[in-house]
Amino acid sequence: MKTLTAEERIIFPLDLPTMEEAVDYVRLLKDHVGVFKVGLELFVACGPDVIRAIKMEAPECKVFLDMKFHDIPQTVKRAQRAASRLGVDFITVHCDEGRGLLDAAVQEAGEVAVLGVTVLTSLSKEDLLSMGIAPELADPADLVLHRAHLAHLAGLRGVVCSGLEARSVKERFGRDFLVVTPGIRPREGRVAGDDQKRVVTPYDAVTNGADYIVVGRPIRDARNPREAASAVAREIERAAALSDA
Ligand code: C5P
Repeated sequence: MKTLTAEERIIFPLDLPTMEEAVDYVRLLKDHVGVFKVGLELFVACGPDVIRAIKMEAPECKVFLDMKFHDIPQTVKRAQRAASRLGVDFITVHCDEGRGLLDAAVQEAGEVAVLGVTVLTSLSKEDLLSMGIAPELADPADLVLHRAHLAHLAGLRGVVCSGLEARSVKERFGRDFLVVTPGIRPREGRVAGDDQKRVVTPYDAVTNGADYIVVGRPIRDARNPREAASAVAREIERAAALSDA
C-alpha cells in the first residue's frame, strides 16, 4: 500500500442532515482530510446525488459509503452491486451475520474496498453481555479478533474497530489488512453527551496501527473545523514518525 499523508488518513463523516451543509463541509475541509464518509443520515436524506456532489467538489478525496449492510446474503449482494456502481472507494458491512453476508459483499465489490464492522465503538463489554454475546467472547478485544478473522477469511480489505484493538488486528492479519478506527477523541476535544465508549486519541490510534481514523464531532463541532483537522493531522504525523523510527 502506498504511504498515505497524515491528511489522507483522516476520514471525516458528513453526519449532517442536508446536501447544502454536507457540501459546505466538503468545501471547507477538502484540503485537510482525505476521505469523506457518507453515513445513514445523509444518504437517507439525499441519496446517490450526494456522492456525485462530493466527487464534483473534491475530486482528489475518497468517498466512503458507510451503510453498514446487515441483511440476508442475497439482499446484501444486490445492495453492494448498486453501491459499487456509485464509484465509491469504501463501503461497510457488519461482520456479525457470518460468512454468507461477507462473501456476498465481496463478490459484488469490484474496485470498492469492503470493510467489516467488527464491534461498534459505542459498545462496551456490559453492552455485549446484555445483547446475549457469550461471556468468553464478550470482551471487545476478543470479539473484534473473532469477527476480523471472518472478514479476513472472506477476503474483505479490512475492518473497522476501535484504537484499543487496532494493534492486535494488525499483528494477527498483517499490514495490508486495513484498520479503520472511529471513536477518536483528541485530548482537548470533548464531545457533549458522547455515545462513544471505546475511545482513543489520534496519536494512540495511529501508534497502535490504524491506517485511517474517523474523526467526526471533534472536527465538525469545533469553533474552527480546519484548525481542528490540522491539529489531528499533526498528531498523526508525530505518531507515524515514531512508528517509522
Ligand atoms: O467522531 P464521532 O464520534 O462524531 O464519529 C461518529 C462517526 O463514526 C459516525 O459517522 C459513525 O457512524 C461512525 N462510526 C462509529 N463507530 C463505528 C463505525 C463508524 O462511530 N464502529
